[in-house]
Amino acid sequence: MIELTSINSKLNLNNGTQIPCVGYGTFRTPADVAEKAVADAIKVGYRHIDTAAVYGNEEAVGKGIKDSGIDRKDLFVTSKLWNDNRGYDSTKKAFQETLDHLQMDYLDLYLIHWPANQKQFGTKASEINAETWRAMEDLYNEGKIKAIGLSNFMPHHIVELMKTAKVAPAVDQIEVHPGWPHTEQVKYLQAHNILVEAWAPLGGQGAHVMTNQTILQIADKYGKTAAQVCLRWIIQQGIVPLPKSVHENRMIQNKEIFDFVLTDDEMKQISLLTNLGGQCADPDEADF
Ligand SMILES: NC(=O)c1ccc[n+]([C@@H]2O[C@H](COP(=O)([O-])OP(=O)(O)OC[C@H]3O[C@@H](n4cnc5c(N)ncnc54)[C@H](OP(=O)(O)O)[C@@H]3O)[C@@H](O)[C@H]2O)c1
Repeated sequence: MIELTSINSKLNLNNGTQIPCVGYGTFRTPADVAEKAVADAIKVGYRHIDTAAVYGNEEAVGKGIKDSGIDRKDLFVTSKLWNDNRGYDSTKKAFQETLDHLQMDYLDLYLIHWPANQKQFGTKASEINAETWRAMEDLYNEGKIKAIGLSNFMPHHIVELMKTAKVAPAVDQIEVHPGWPHTEQVKYLQAHNILVEAWAPLGGQGAHVMTNQTILQIADKYGKTAAQVCLRWIIQQGIVPLPKSVHENRMIQNKEIFDFVLTDDEMKQISLLTNLGGQCADPDEADF
């Protein structure tokens, strides 16, 4: 196990690419806020930025990155292919649009945002995912992306994808937070050498993770906040959290998670919590 000492300690992806162990999320950060928020996040030390075409803020994220003055090669930038661009040609076109919006000539990580599911596409779902992945593989082989991966793919979607895939996915970005630990899926992904990233690591907007008494008691013991305990619980599982905040004090707070260690018993207590809100999304039921 690699020792993590800061948000920029690196984990290895299955293709040798290195990824900072905590990322900065930008979902629901409006374009007019994102430029400053991203520049602030980089100023306080984040080097791993997570965005997506559907967030509508890639251009502002790109400007924030430029404003920061940090070399592109010292940053790790992820974006995601939105659902209405699945398929070989559309994926390639959407990827180029993402690069143009971000004003970059490569991405560190590009993800399929959601699998095409049977509910929407019936027996065509697997073929759509396979064609989308084939475009991602070509972009990867052309050197335009350092690593390619998935988001919201469940094990059965991955098994299906691997029937035609030539490159194994490096990452699966899924919802993970106290109350929604996704234990079995995390085990499956880690056993298959696919790095897990946690979206909504604090439960997302409107969740009551951070007012939970168990989490608050553990936080109190270490002189930490509930948010810091959530993030610590995630990194101790070898998962990369992507906390989002537009507030500089919270960006800083969310970095300070390397000076305490949760006991096995505390890890278990948090993992057993239920019903704390969040989307608790089922990708097979998604109709968007
Ligand atoms: N792949 C996917 O399908 C998917 C889906 C959702 C999200 N994501 C990614 O994952 C990232 C994180 O998820 P998320 O943004 O939904 O939720 P999150 O990071 O769990 O929660 C963010 C919420 O908590 C607040 N917050 C942040 N730090 C805090 C702190 N220290 N104390 C108290 N409140 C704090 C933020 O508000 P303020 O900004 O006001 O501080 C925001 O409302 C996203 O931004 C996005 O990059 C991916």
